[in-house]
Parts: sequence; structure tokens; C-alpha cells
Amino acid sequence: MANDSNAANGLFKTKIGLIAATLGSAVGLGSIWRFPAEAQENGGGAFFIVYIFCILLLGIPVMVAEMAIGRSGGFGLRKKADAGRLTATPPGAVAIDEAKAGKWRYAAWLGVLASYMILCFYMVVAGWTFEYLWDSITNALYSDIPHSLTGMESAFQLRMERYIASDWNPLISTWIVIAMNIGILMLGVQKGIERASNIMMPLLFVLLLVFSCYALTLPGAKEGLDFFFRPDFSKITWPMVGNALGQTFFSLSLGTGILATYAAYYPSDTRLPQTSVTVSSLTTLVAVMMGIIIFPAVFTFGLDVNSLRGTTLVFVTLPEVFAEMPGTQWISILFFTLLLVAALTSTISIAEVSVAFIQKNFRKKRLAATFIALTPLTILSSLCALSFGRLSDVKIFGYTIFNFLDTFTTNYMLPITALAAVVYIGWFAPHDTLRRQITNDGTVNRRLWRLLSFIIRYPAPLLIIVILISGLLK
Ligand code: TRP
Repeated sequence: MANDSNAANGLFKTKIGLIAATLGSAVGLGSIWRFPAEAQENGGGAFFIVYIFCILLLGIPVMVAEMAIGRSGGFGLRKKADAGRLTATPPGAVAIDEAKAGKWRYAAWLGVLASYMILCFYMVVAGWTFEYLWDSITNALYSDIPHSLTGMESAFQLRMERYIASDWNPLISTWIVIAMNIGILMLGVQKGIERASNIMMPLLFVLLLVFSCYALTLPGAKEGLDFFFRPDFSKITWPMVGNALGQTFFSLSLGTGILATYAAYYPSDTRLPQTSVTVSSLTTLVAVMMGIIIFPAVFTFGLDVNSLRGTTLVFVTLPEVFAEMPGTQWISILFFTLLLVAALTSTISIAEVSVAFIQKNFRKKRLAATFIALTPLTILSSLCALSFGRLSDVKIFGYTIFNFLDTFTTNYMLPITALAAVVYIGWFAPHDTLRRQITNDGTVNRRLWRLLSFIIRYPAPLLIIVILISGLLK
């Protein structure tokens, strides 16, 4: 992360380190909580197929474009001595500032705004994760389940719906998570969280693998996998493609400039296309494993895919699965700990955008900038949290506050900023920047470069525009 001592500490001295950090930002609630919800609400297999296409055609090229912008402004291809200068640069604008790109900086600001709006609702879900961890530790999650079941609803479903609609509990857990973020960001990032996530992220993968294998043995596995892997092409509509596009950008952390910031700290021999393929595939792998876990569980435990609210899906199905496994409480504690860490490595990367932005533009110290950036969230995130209960009637364009922020940022703001990134690097950046970044000054990827630069210049911007406009017209 772009805090004061990054470059000096050589955050990205190792290849593993830079991949772990980039992956730490990418893998989070996006793939674990948001993806299954979107897949469930958009027809399962059809959504999955469109999502994969979006990753290949747009996610990877946009990621390369953002990284190219970042590194061309970073110190990777320049003298290391310059590195110090960059540390105070706001992520969204890192290289755009550096490149003296004039009006393009507004795109970077849009990214900063989007990232802040994402934080508002992300903190709420991270708060739910904290609550579920707490309830696993006290075992309340499994011992104290409501009995007044109605029809299709499972006990865990009822519990979740009561919890998110309640007044105080979701607020308190959201505040706790915000406080954790302040603590981490204040202290600087890499010593604690980066080191922890280097250990925790691989563990998360292993655990997800175990759960996937277990889910495959559930009686509803066949039906679940059918729902997830068998596409019903009639479900593909423009708004749904728009949702898949948004999910692609959200899960890969695109469209806010955070990846440009990370890439500014990549050494000059890091291969951008390969790095972005690695990060995208691992992130997609998490999403696929979640699909393999969630949908067999949905069909096994008689949850109704159509009546379940996507937002609560993971918090209903996972406890169902854990309750069936031996060692329920321990598994549950372990899993929600890892999920919380995954969420934190993402929230700090999103929050860092605003912290660094305030540091630079308002010339604040890190401590002050952290508080200025994060304290308003105690109120803004609370409004999001309450939009499942007391404020559920407050609507913005027909959406609840939570859903409005989620949908609007993901489906519109991220694609627009990503569009600016590809158009800028493909057409307006100083001549040859893209080639030098993709080929590391002509030493690697010379064939790949033609393909990637073609995608970045023509199909990528066109597709984003078509998807955005078609989604709006429908
Ligand atoms: N990708 C993260 C996730 O899936 C969330 C995230 C981190 C993000 N940084 C971002 C989303 C920047 C959009 C933009 O949980």
C-alpha cells in the first residue's frame, strides 16, 4: 500500500510479495459474498459464463492498462531515488498526475469517489462477517437459532434476516470493523496486514478447497452444479451483462486507481500481462469455488433460490454447510476469521485511496488523513446498514441506500473510470508508454503486446460503452 515507507521498505521486493498484495486487494467480499449473490440473482450458469468472458475480454486488459498507467508514473522504469516522491501521491491519480495528463485527472477523482462509496457498503458486509465470527466464537450461531420457522425459510435464513433488520447489532459490528481499519491504516500497512495476509490468504484457498470438496458430497450437489454451470442462454440480457461487467471490475479491484498505485511500486522487470493473468485467475478461482460450495448447499437445504435475498446468501448457506460438517464451531471460527481478513485486506486497499488522496491534496499527516477519511463512515455506513431495517423505505431511484451504492458504483462508476483508463493509455498517453510497459522496454511479450494493445485500443472501450448504454436503455 502506498504509505510513507513503502518504497523504502521495498514492499514489492519479491514477486510473491507483489502478487500477494495485489491479490489481497482483489480477493475479498467481492468474490466470496458478492459473486454468489449476483450469480443467484442473474440466472446462475448464464451469469457465470458472461462473467468469464468479461474477465478475459475486459478484466485482464483493463488491469494491464491500469498497471501500465501506474508503473509508467512509478519508479519501476526510473531511478529508485525517485520513489520517495511518489509515496504521497494519491492512488487514483498516481500516474495521471505524473503524466501531467490534465483533464484525465477528473477520471481519477471519479475513481476516488467510487472507492469511497464502495467503502460505505463494504464496511457493512465486513461488519456482518465480524458478527458471524463473534457468534461462532460464542457458538450463538449454532445454539441459539430461531424456531418459528415459516415455510421455505431455514433457521439460518431467518436468523440472518432478523439480524440485518435489527437496529443496533449491525451498526456496532460495522463500527468495530471501521475501527479496525483506522487502526491498521494509522499504523501503516505492510508490517501487520501484509504479513498476516501472506499466511492467511493461502489458508483461505485451502479451506475453500476443502469446503468445495465437501459440498460436492451433499445430496443437492448435482442440482446445485447444474444451476451454476449449465447456462440458460435465455437469461442473458443487457442489464445482466452489465451486472457481470460490474462484478468483473469490482472483484478485480479495477476502476478506482488502486492497481495503478500498486503497479507504481512494481519493479521494472515485473511482467504486467502475466501478473494480471495470475491475479485474475486466482480471484476467479475463489469465485468458482464459492459457486461450487453455495449452490449445492442451496439445493440440499431446501433454500429457495428465487426467494433468498442475494445479499444474505453466503451468510445463510455457509452456516448450513458448517452445521453439517464435523467440528462445526471450529470450522466456523476459522472460516469467518479468514473471511474477515480477506475483507480487511480489501477495505484497507479501498480506504487507502481516500487516505492518500487527502494526504496529498489537503497536505495532511497520515494520522489526520486516516481519521478524516474514515470517521464519516461511521455515519454513512450506518445509513447503509439501517437500509435493511428501519430505513428500508428510503429509496434512491427505487433502490435502498445499500443497493443503490452497490449497484451504482459497481455497474456505472467503475466501468466509466475503467473506460477512461483504457482510452487514456491506449490513445492519449505519451507515445509508446503502453508498448514499453507491456514489453518491459521491448524485452518481453513482444507478440502479446500487439494483441493486448489492440484489445485496449478498440474492443475494450467499445464493449464497455456498448454494455453501459445498452444496460441503461433497457
Ligand atoms: N476487489 C475487492 C473485493 O472483491 C474489493 C476492492 C478492493 C475493490 N479494491 C477495490 C473494488 C477497488 C473496486 C475498486 O472484495
